[in-house]
Amino acid sequence: PQLFAPERGNARGWDLTCARDLEEIEAARAPFRTAQFSAAPILAGEATGGETAPIINPADPGDTVGHVTQASAQDIAAALDAARPWQASAGERARVLERVADLYERDFGKIFAIVAREAGKTQLDAVGELREAVDFLHYYAVQARKLAAPPRGVFTCISPWNFPLAIFTGQIAGALAAGNAVLAKPAEATPLIAHLAVELMHEAGVPRTALQFLPGEGGVVGRALTSDPRVSGVAFTGSTGTAQAIRRAMAEHLDPAAPLIAETGGLNAMVVDSTALPEQAVRDILASSFQSAGQRCSALRCLYVQEDVAESFTEMLFGAMEELTLGDPWDLSTDVGPLIDARAQADFRAYIDAARAEGRVLKELRAPKSGHFLAPTVIRVPGIKALEREIFGPVLHLATFKAADLQKVIDDVNATGYGLTFGLHTRIDNRVQEVVERVRVGNTYVNRNQIGAVVGSQPFGGEGLSGTGPKAGGPNYVPRFAGSPLRMEGA
Ligand code: NAD
Ligand code: ALA
Repeated sequence: PQLFAPERGNARGWDLTCARDLEEIEAARAPFRTAQFSAAPILAGEATGGETAPIINPADPGDTVGHVTQASAQDIAAALDAARPWQASAGERARVLERVADLYERDFGKIFAIVAREAGKTQLDAVGELREAVDFLHYYAVQARKLAAPPRGVFTCISPWNFPLAIFTGQIAGALAAGNAVLAKPAEATPLIAHLAVELMHEAGVPRTALQFLPGEGGVVGRALTSDPRVSGVAFTGSTGTAQAIRRAMAEHLDPAAPLIAETGGLNAMVVDSTALPEQAVRDILASSFQSAGQRCSALRCLYVQEDVAESFTEMLFGAMEELTLGDPWDLSTDVGPLIDARAQADFRAYIDAARAEGRVLKELRAPKSGHFLAPTVIRVPGIKALEREIFGPVLHLATFKAADLQKVIDDVNATGYGLTFGLHTRIDNRVQEVVERVRVGNTYVNRNQIGAVVGSQPFGGEGLSGTGPKAGGPNYVPRFAGSPLRMEGA
């Protein structure tokens, strides 16, 4: 089936190897290098606002990016009272979502600047972030036109800081495409880009009663917005533990039929066998483990290299790691930016220190002194079972395997209970089939990196502890936000 209207394919993006594109980016974001931004509740009526706090650039403690005013208890109550499903035809909703995409692309310089300074996104990641957000808007607009079911009512959308525009936009666009009212709560660390997104959605024509914005703490604002019986469903992306807390709150307070659409964490593995092309596998491992400083749910956490080639392969991998540039994400030459905050930095440093004390650190780069940086690090493990939790940073665990044990490796991956992404590098066709059939994950990638699923062609989402489905950027996503009866045109 045709996924996009011909004029609305995937976003064009920018080519970071093209001098003209780089000049265009530099010129557009320059005015925002030191600009101050603000975020505050945006309600159908007047907001009172609660406490205000600064947002500091995670790469540079001297750069205050702006301020956020939290939603007060009064704001939460007013938003719940005022929320009304979007009374517009599916065609009109689709047109407005497409207009939002146009406004995002119009404001690309400002968006690149905010995601670099607020979320530590390198320019490569910033382009990916904007493209994915635009793709979600285009794709869900097409889905809105096909949907023949009423809205459910009011959806709470709760997003993480690691895709502060793309996932924030994707959840809201999915809920709005089906005609719901949305109460949007951004992550604590990234309200500034989310505030801009909501302003652009309103500018495009989304009514304020259909989209209200409530920044604040997860345990306060998030908790309140998932514990009110007027809420008819929740879209959540974040850690597995938070999804479980939301599930409990919903069970206690919401209608039992209210859906939770949760996309959560992962313990993702990759297998490289002795037939793999090493140069290609190394490049894909660097991207999967260290791009976005490893702060992707899809990121590679545990690499299995076939024993026979392990020594030469790891030598090549460690050599390639030396070429990575760590630093200010604003600089176009930076490959690896900072972690999101000091807490993550201290936590993962302690984790690496413990591994070092046991003699298990195999490779470690050097990180800039100031800012919340963590040097990309490789730690030896016997296998994925040794990983007790998701280390959401540039930490790669390395194990070896014998060819005869491949099925056991896959069984160990399945036994983690997570099931988000899996990577395989091999030139044996039978092996691809065997592994793909056995591994229980949402997204399997063969002979490529395992991050950066593309909306419309690689619907993204996991199994087990990694999420409830339906996959984001796929045909079943928007229908989940609609009431019954569900009927897709042509289905
Ligand atoms: P998090 O769970 O700490 O927070 C996510 C959101 O939930 C935030 O907006 C937070 O304020 C809110 N929240 C926290 N407690 C809450 C509560 N009790 N009730 C309601 N809301 C609450 O996650 P994070 O640190 O922001 O993001 C990183 C995690 O997200 C990682 O585990 C990563 O794997 C996961 N993630 C998953 C996907 C996916 O598509 N599967 C994508 C990105 C990130
Ligand atoms: N969709 C994002 C990725 O695939 C999370 O990396």
